[in-house]
Amino acid sequence: MTAPNAVTATAGQPAAYAATHHPAGPGGAAVTLERVTKTYGSGRGRVTALDNVSWTFRRGTFTAIMGASGSGKSTFLHCASGLDRPTSGTVRLGATDLGELKETELTRLRRDRVGFVFQGYNLVPSMDVERNITLPLFLGGRRADRQWLTEVVHRVGMAERLDHKPSQLSGGQQQRVAVARALVTRPEIVFADEPTAALDPRTAGHVLRLLREAVDATGQTVVLVTHDPTAAAWADSAVFLSEGRIVDELAAPTAATVLNRWETL
Ligand SMILES: Nc1ncnc2c1ncn2[C@@H]1O[C@H](COP(=O)(O)OP(=O)(O)OP(=O)(O)O)[C@@H](O)[C@H]1O
Ligand SMILES: [Mg+2]
Repeated sequence: MTAPNAVTATAGQPAAYAATHHPAGPGGAAVTLERVTKTYGSGRGRVTALDNVSWTFRRGTFTAIMGASGSGKSTFLHCASGLDRPTSGTVRLGATDLGELKETELTRLRRDRVGFVFQGYNLVPSMDVERNITLPLFLGGRRADRQWLTEVVHRVGMAERLDHKPSQLSGGQQQRVAVARALVTRPEIVFADEPTAALDPRTAGHVLRLLREAVDATGQTVVLVTHDPTAAAWADSAVFLSEGRIVDELAAPTAATVLNRWETL
């Protein structure tokens, strides 16, 4: 599938979805969370951001995570990707139990096997666009695959801006650089926290297609946090979070079914 679910349907074409979507997922577990709880603070100021969440993301699937502001989406992504450690519970990337890794091992795992697009871009201000994009390769001692780098840079529409610094870019352009940086290492799994929030619809479409194709063409796994029902329509399923818990899942989400579900959340 290369188009969002809604577009496939409204274009009057047979839904490619049925042929490619396997409810149980086409592969083994990419990431598994078991009874994951994350609390912040203590005493009366204590906040339970994730409340005993268990979930499996299958390899080669594209999942949208949705939920109101403060429902725990970013916390979920940070715990699932090894950026943050849960207060209790287990997170596994493939067969690797992240809780058993030392800090340096966890850092290496994130660099080599995980791509992350942050809600706030997190670009290095002193580095130009090309250096920012290739930073994970540099840190991992890997050489850039020039063909893939060129492809990714073109797809996010940043080819003309490789020598610009982040401060010279708009928010949306910085976000596109962050997406390219997450994809350049071809990680097993890409976590993206609202990567299209600052983008115009056309550029958002490019970014979502890039993520979709990462799944369809190379079997990577994508987990996307979004508030946008049309963005969720690119995913195989939409998972709804409320007050730190997963409360529902929609298969083959369309903008309409997501909106509908959202209203009763
Ligand atoms: N570092 C932190 N310290 C204390 N509380 C935190 C911290 N990070 C998140 N929280 C709290 O945990 C809850 C979940 O936050 P989280 O950022 O995961 O929500 P979110 O669903 O990503 O929201 P948004 O859509 O606004 O990005 C919120 O109540 C938030 O205030
Ligand atoms: Mg968030």
